[in-house]
Amino acid sequence: MTSSRAAQVSCRDATLADMPACAGILNRWIDATPWMPRVHPQEDVERHYRESVFANGPVIVADCRGEIAGFLALSADGFVTALYLDERHRGVGIGTTLIREAKKRARSELKLWTFEHNGGAQRFYEREGFLPVRRTGGDNEEGLPDILYHWRSEPLREREA
Ligand SMILES: CC(C)(COP(=O)(O)OP(=O)(O)OC[C@H]1O[C@@H](n2cnc3c(N)ncnc32)[C@H](O)[C@@H]1OP(=O)(O)O)[C@@H](O)C(=O)NCCC(=O)NCCS
Repeated sequence: MTSSRAAQVSCRDATLADMPACAGILNRWIDATPWMPRVHPQEDVERHYRESVFANGPVIVADCRGEIAGFLALSADGFVTALYLDERHRGVGIGTTLIREAKKRARSELKLWTFEHNGGAQRFYEREGFLPVRRTGGDNEEGLPDILYHWRSEPLREREA
């Protein structure tokens, strides 16, 4: 379902000037999430977005009448490396709009990692047709258990699964 607020949002490729807003959304989520450790200072996160995430993009932003409501970063090898909505814009369909835009761009498949603690994100991805395919006990910078999710436009045939 698309809410009226999601309908006011347009997806566009980010510019370098959007990176502080994207890093700010991520920094606020880290600080507001009790189980999420901060492994890099806020300013390093912003620099990483300017120097690396943007360069390895595309980064797609959800532009809500000039305000960045959220963003999705896609890597050349088909990974969604980040999907974060500003808290005020969650739960109204904007994440769905962004992930569907990423599916269109990727065409056949997408992969992403999410933390096992993030039950809300898992429900969101599973509703969007992603399947959990691998788990680690904390093979990431944060040292938290995580899950690899996979989406394909065509369902896996039995002998491929
Ligand atoms: C997870 C996230 C990207 C989903 O985007 P969204 O725009 O809030 O989701 P939508 O409105 O399109 O879809 C809502 C669904 O997402 C799920 N959801 C996850 N977190 C939610 C939240 N904080 N508020 C509302 N719904 C949430 C619910 O299952 C909901 O399904 P329902 O409508 O059947 O109840 C977004 O909530 C978010 O940025 N969360 C914080 C950061 C995060 O966890 N990012 C994922 C990192 S892997």
